[in-house]
Amino acid sequence: MSEKPWNGRFSEKTDRLVEAFTSSIDIDKRLYPYDIEGSIAHCRMLAKASIISETEAELLIEGLGKIKRELDRGKLTYDDSLEDIHMHIETWLLQEAGMVALKLHTARSRNDQVALDVRMYLRDETQNTIKRLVELRKVIVDLAKVHMDVVLPGYTHLQRAQPVLLSHHLMAYYEMFSRDTDRFSDSLKRINIMPLGSAALAGTTYPIDREYTAKLLNFPKVSANSLDAVSDRDYIIEFLSSASICMVHLSRISEELILWSSSEFGFIELPDSFATGSSIMPQKKNPDVPELVRGKTGRVFGDLTALLTMMKALPLAYNRDMQEDKAALFNTADILKECIEINIHMLPKLTINKLAMQQATTSGFLNATDLADYLVTRGMPFRQAHSCVGNAVSYALKQQKELQELTLKELKSFSSLIKKDVFDVLTTEKMINRRTSFGGTATENVKAAIEAAEKSLDEESKCLQVSTKD
Ligand code: ARG
Repeated sequence: MSEKPWNGRFSEKTDRLVEAFTSSIDIDKRLYPYDIEGSIAHCRMLAKASIISETEAELLIEGLGKIKRELDRGKLTYDDSLEDIHMHIETWLLQEAGMVALKLHTARSRNDQVALDVRMYLRDETQNTIKRLVELRKVIVDLAKVHMDVVLPGYTHLQRAQPVLLSHHLMAYYEMFSRDTDRFSDSLKRINIMPLGSAALAGTTYPIDREYTAKLLNFPKVSANSLDAVSDRDYIIEFLSSASICMVHLSRISEELILWSSSEFGFIELPDSFATGSSIMPQKKNPDVPELVRGKTGRVFGDLTALLTMMKALPLAYNRDMQEDKAALFNTADILKECIEINIHMLPKLTINKLAMQQATTSGFLNATDLADYLVTRGMPFRQAHSCVGNAVSYALKQQKELQELTLKELKSFSSLIKKDVFDVLTTEKMINRRTSFGGTATENVKAAIEAAEKSLDEESKCLQVSTKD
């Protein structure tokens, strides 16, 4: 059992049960690179403000660098009695650099230190998420580009509704993941605020230079209120919220892959390398990957709920409850990463069953709206046209025929406005290509949407390259 920094005030040793209960090292050890980088900047600032000497700062920085290298090589072991990553590093530094290590924590508290570490971690994680989302969107656009000639029924209420291009359907997901990218990018400006120097809760009596620390750590802004800075976890909640929305999108595409790969649909086949078999039924090929993405979505929602619940009744400022934030944050960040990455690898390998999709557009009266629109262009008010086509559908159902399979005579019996040219309007190709309203499924629109997406992705990739070089 190690000496506690608060020993002076206590007459009893901490119970082992309490040490195990309060320890967060298993979770927060992954923050070590940020903790060390933050401490190095803190030392530089302390020296610049003459709170410690240059020599002391050099010794501290050297020691911290050595600890970092040893941690990178997995050379150091963790101990519950040291509670968290901050106290581990301080203790190792004492062993490494001697008594000067006792000065590292001047003008700082673990409360502002942990806020700094998590903000630095989240800044990296958010940038990496954005990169992964750009990759995923590229994969989707490439698929949409390759499959421009594939049509399938679009659905509402999971009932066949109107035909759409598969590319249009895919580009709907492109839109969702673009909004996700945007959300994560926007959140960066709220993550990128430097809390160090708020100390425990009220600021510090030392003449610190917070702007200098912020500059060293590449933060454009310092936090304006010390109480808020140590008790704010909005940036984590926001990440979990953006991640939850993104997981909704991943879960929805997964659901469609599961449905579409069933024998009932038969629209796609998953690659063997991304499917699993059954231990009992030899014929089975199961969509476990999309199912797990769908399933993991629930865990991410759980993390968001956990954080919102944890924060909702906390008085200012820091409370130990907040230590629970990291398990939720890391869990979600890891799930989001693997779910995006597995889709980046799986989606390009899907087999698209063009014929099955095409055939599905020819039954189920997908052209009923087009017949109504045809009547409207010949002068019938839409509501009347709707009811007239409704009668035609009801009749065709009884005949076990589709609208396009009725004779001209049969069709004319519902309205004399119907002429021979009606059959042209009722084909899948016409139905698609006449939907030229902006954002509609017409081939020319979808081509333009793909071009715009490619342009945007090019620009985004260029920006990402620039920001990584920084
Ligand atoms: N491990 C703690 C956390 O993650 C660090 C801050 C502890 N502060 C304190 N006053 N006990 O929240």
